[in-house]
Amino acid sequence: MTERTFCMLKPDAVANRHIGEIIGRFERVGLVVERLEMGMVSQDQATANYAEHEGKPFYDGLISYITSGPVVKMVISGTDAVQVCRKLMGATNPLEAAPGTIRGDFGLVMDANVIHGSDSLESAEREIAIFFG
Ligand code: RTP
Ligand code: MG
Repeated sequence: MTERTFCMLKPDAVANRHIGEIIGRFERVGLVVERLEMGMVSQDQATANYAEHEGKPFYDGLISYITSGPVVKMVISGTDAVQVCRKLMGATNPLEAAPGTIRGDFGLVMDANVIHGSDSLESAEREIAIFFG
């Protein structure tokens, strides 16, 4: 099924100049970059996006990290886009992410794990609304 998902290149990916290489991986498998915007994540957007993690030990660090520098926000579409993006991203912890995945190839630590991607169709619609209105 054709789906839309939300992906975001996190501050470390932008700072380390990996934007082009990472977006290239989505295009290479045939997904389409429908919308793309570079900029900061506001405090409100960060807390809305990560509401499910409020109260967890890593929450404060996560919010300050995602608001610490410019990110690239994208709507990506294509067949099974949600699942395909998650597969390309790899496991949450770069230590466990397989080589060949985005987190496996561009990340080192859990706190700066390169990329965010919606984990379901429902999350995708919610997150697209948060970041693109
Ligand atoms: P994301 O939401 O960023 O795409 O990552 P995810 O679905 O793979 O992982 P999730 O469980 O939603 O966690 C969100 C982000 O919080 C940080 N985290 N740290 N120290 C920890 O135990 C821990 N757990 C999660 C990660 O940066 C993760 O991307
Ligand atoms: Mg998540």
